[in-house]
Amino acid sequence: MDKLRIMSVFGTRPEAIKMCPLVKELSSRPEVESLCCVTAQHRQMLDSVLEVFSVRPDWDLDIMTPRQTLSAITSRCLTGMDGAIDALKPDMILVHGDTSTTFAGALSAFYHQIPVGHVEAGLRTYDKYSPYPEEMNRRLVTSLADLYFCPTENNRANLAREGVEKGVFVTGNTVIDALKTTVRKDYHFTTELLNTLPYQEKKVLLVTCHRRENYGEPMRKIMLALRQIALENEDVELVYPVHLSPVVRQAVDTYLRGTPRVHLIDPLPADEMHNLMDRCYLVLTDSGGLQEEAPALGRPVLVLRRETERPEAVAAGTVKLAGVEQETIVSMARALIRDPEAYRQMAHAVNPYGDGQACRRIADAILWHFGRGSRPEEYRP
Ligand code: UD1
Ligand code: UDP
Repeated sequence: MDKLRIMSVFGTRPEAIKMCPLVKELSSRPEVESLCCVTAQHRQMLDSVLEVFSVRPDWDLDIMTPRQTLSAITSRCLTGMDGAIDALKPDMILVHGDTSTTFAGALSAFYHQIPVGHVEAGLRTYDKYSPYPEEMNRRLVTSLADLYFCPTENNRANLAREGVEKGVFVTGNTVIDALKTTVRKDYHFTTELLNTLPYQEKKVLLVTCHRRENYGEPMRKIMLALRQIALENEDVELVYPVHLSPVVRQAVDTYLRGTPRVHLIDPLPADEMHNLMDRCYLVLTDSGGLQEEAPALGRPVLVLRRETERPEAVAAGTVKLAGVEQETIVSMARALIRDPEAYRQMAHAVNPYGDGQACRRIADAILWHFGRGSRPEEYRP
C-alpha cells in the first residue's frame, strides 16, 4: 500500500513549537510520509525552533518581511502554497491554531480539494476582535477542516455548539509533548544571564507581550505596569525576552528600557524558554502558549489580556486574568510577590492541557481516518 503523504504547514514560533513534535511522530510511522512546509511568516524565531527540534522543512515559502500587513501575509502564503502542494502532492494538510499561516494553509488546501486536519481546534473567545485576528482565523479554519484535534473537552464543546461533531478528537495539546522533551532539572543555559539569576534568593518574573490587540495604549499601560513592579519590589528580577516585532520593540524601548532589575533580552530558543519558565517565580504574559506551559510546570500566570480562550487553567486556579490596566496588573502582581499564601494557592502544577501523548493520538486518528488503524482513546485529564 502507498504511504500516506501528510503535510504539516506552519510559519510562526508557537506553531513550530507545537507542530515539530507531530512532524516527528508522523515520521516515525511506517504508513506515513511526513512532509513539512513552512511559510516562514516568522524567520529567525521559526528557524530557532526548527534547530531546537532538528526538523528540516521540505518546502520553505520564506514570506517574512518587516512590518507585514495581515493581507500581505495571507496573500503571500496562499500564492506560495500552490507551489508546495503541486510539488509535494499531499493526501492531507495539517495546520495549527489560529495564525495567518493557519488560515491561508487551510484555504489553500481547500482550493486544491485536499482534506484538512486542524491541530489545536475549538478554542474560542467569541469576541471577533480579541484576540485579533486569531479568533476569526480559527473560526474560518473550522469551516474548512475535516478533522479537528481539540486539546480539551471544553474545546470540543465549543465545536459541538457550532454544529461540528464529525471528525472531532480530544487529544490534549501537543505543547505538553514538546515540554516533555525540553525541560530538564540539570539544564545548562547557553544564555549566560540565565545561569546566574538568583532563582532562590530573589523572585524571577518572566514576561512576554506581543499581541496585536494590545498594540498602542494597552501595551503602553502594560509596559508602565512592568516598570512599576520592578521599581516597587526590590526582591524581584524581571526577565523579558522581547518579541522581534518592531512595534513591540519600540514600546519596550520607550517605556521599559533602563529600568533597574529589568533584563530585556532577545527571544530565547524554545528549550531555554521552557527551562527558564520551570525555574521562575511568576509569569506575566499575553501569550497563548505560555498560559498552557506554565500551569504544567506549577508556575502561576497573570494574563495581560481582557479575556482568554484558555479558561481551563483559570478554573484550576493557576492562571488569573489581569487585564491591561496598569493599576490592576501592579496590584495583582504585588499580591503574589508579597503574600506567600496568595502565591501558594496559585503555585501548584495542573495539566488541563495534556499528558504528553497528543501527537500519538493525532497520528492514530489520521491513520484511522484513512482506514489504516483503530480510533485512538481520547485525552482525559
Ligand atoms: C503572529 C501571529 C500570532 C502569534 C504570534 C506568535 C498572526 C496574524 N499572528 O503574530 O497569532 O501569537 O505570531 O509570536 O498570524 N518578525 C521578525 N523576525 C521574526 C518574527 C517576526 O522580524 O523572526 C517581525 C515581522 O517582520 C513583523 C513582526 O515581527 O514585522 C510581527 O510578525 P507577524 O508574523 O506579522 O505577527 P506576530 O505579531 O508575530
Ligand atoms: N517562546 C520561546 N522564546 C521566547 C518566547 C516564547 O521559545 O523568547 C515560546 C513559549 O515558550 C511558547 C511559544 O513560544 O512555547 C509561545 O509563542 P508566542 O508567545 O510567540 O505566541 P502565542 O502562543 O501567543 O501564539
